[in-house]
Amino acid sequence: MKLKGCIFDLDGVIVDTARYHFMAWKRLADQLKIHFTEDNNERLKGVSRMDSLDIILEIGDMRLSEELRKEYANLKNRWYIEYVSRMTPDEILPGSLEFINELKGVGIKVAIGSASKNTSLILERVGMNNLFDAIADGNTITRAKPDPEIFLTAAKMLGIEPERCAVFEDAVAGVQAALNAGMICIGVGSHNILTEAHSVISGLNMINLKKLEKIAKISGL
Ligand code: BG6
Ligand code: MG
Repeated sequence: MKLKGCIFDLDGVIVDTARYHFMAWKRLADQLKIHFTEDNNERLKGVSRMDSLDIILEIGDMRLSEELRKEYANLKNRWYIEYVSRMTPDEILPGSLEFINELKGVGIKVAIGSASKNTSLILERVGMNNLFDAIADGNTITRAKPDPEIFLTAAKMLGIEPERCAVFEDAVAGVQAALNAGMICIGVGSHNILTEAHSVISGLNMINLKKLEKIAKISGL
């Protein structure tokens, strides 16, 4: 097997935190009297905290000073932390633990590549803080997906060449980041949205080592 490492996005791949992001952004939008829907929330997937706020302000046709933008982003994050602090291991998405342990069992290294600055807190809450060989998160990098920085950093931390890594991603920008890093990308979600991925699965409960080997081979690895 030429594949040596697997890098997982966190939000939407390992845990379903999108609803907590939505609850916190919605609370802020309500306060600002901006009409923000679950459909709008799709646009925030994989997008950094400040860029997410800017999308919401754009929806409300509202412009704010740099200082107020920072203040509101911090407020949203305080609410978000309040929600994720109550998470339990039950919120790990189906198949995640089984698949990651299967990979580790055959010596494939596993890493997190997430834009979230709350990665450590979430991993700790769901009891996954000692599972990964490397964690690259929003505190490690400066350029957001689709820039490949986050995945290249994760591969470097694992000590594996990018072309020997596979990425699991639920966001379009994340899929592009993986491809920009020269990695194999398995989209987690819908075929209709993650059109550029090498392969798409509905969740980590739909993959195992054998299937991954097949995808890697077809994708030229
Ligand atoms: C990504 C999420 O993983 O992290 C985005 O998909 C989120 O919705 C981004 O905005 C940043 O997260 P945080 O926790 O640092 O605000
Ligand atoms: Mg995601």
